[in-house]
Amino acid sequence: LIDRLQDTTTIVVSAHRGLKCACPENTIPAFRRALEAGVDMLEFDLRLTKDKRLAIIHDDTVDRTTNGTGAVSEYTWAELQRLDAGGWFDKAFEGCRVPALEELCELLAASGANAPLLNVEIKPSADAIDAADRAVETLRGYGFLERCVFTSFDASVVAHVHDTYGLRTQGFPAESMRHFVDGPGGTYSKMWAAAFSMEQLTPQRVRELRERGLQTWCYCPDTERDVFYALGCGVSVMTCNDPFPAMRLRRRLEADDS
Ligand code: G3P
Ligand code: CA
Repeated sequence: LIDRLQDTTTIVVSAHRGLKCACPENTIPAFRRALEAGVDMLEFDLRLTKDKRLAIIHDDTVDRTTNGTGAVSEYTWAELQRLDAGGWFDKAFEGCRVPALEELCELLAASGANAPLLNVEIKPSADAIDAADRAVETLRGYGFLERCVFTSFDASVVAHVHDTYGLRTQGFPAESMRHFVDGPGGTYSKMWAAAFSMEQLTPQRVRELRERGLQTWCYCPDTERDVFYALGCGVSVMTCNDPFPAMRLRRRLEADDS
């Protein structure tokens, strides 16, 4: 499955924080619904709680995506579990909790042969390297490392995962990363793939990074027009808030080919 990430003739669809267009992001229902939709990959964000549990949550505070306030790093796991992570999105999701990485792994383990690829994003923070080590350890325990690409906007995390574990990493164009190191042996040499936002995406920029030997990726083409544009730029791996336009277009292109 991972080889498909290198095959530019087929669209690969990753669900950004799960099925974010229909569910509260980074929750178990969002991941379950993305799997049901048939995406190729799940993207999710990791941060450490005060007592060093890996929580799947995007922001550095709980304010936007739960009914609580304050920094994730100031919550113990037990305290975080008392927050509602679904009601802010829709009443129907009230009672959802911030999931632990292990809970997502259990869901994937139950998917067996249909388990998707994983885009594991370590969010920048003071303890991001520790978070990366713990994520690798947990994912290794489930036998999932081969299906993972580790992402970070912090170039030190990307370099650490590359140098310590030799795992696939994804970074971003230099201007989007903190601690970016220029030159030979620098951050680009530690990256397996680079992800462009739709604002950054141009054919020239894609060519430049492909010439450096990097896989290219984009986020978030959520309309058919965006998906066409990405393909025109030479990018076929797509992290989407709404994966359906990309999947519909893929089906149409495959039908045209046959
Ligand atoms: O990997 C692409 C995407 O996940 C990065 O943006 O801010 O949604 O984590 P963000
Ligand atoms: Ca992310």
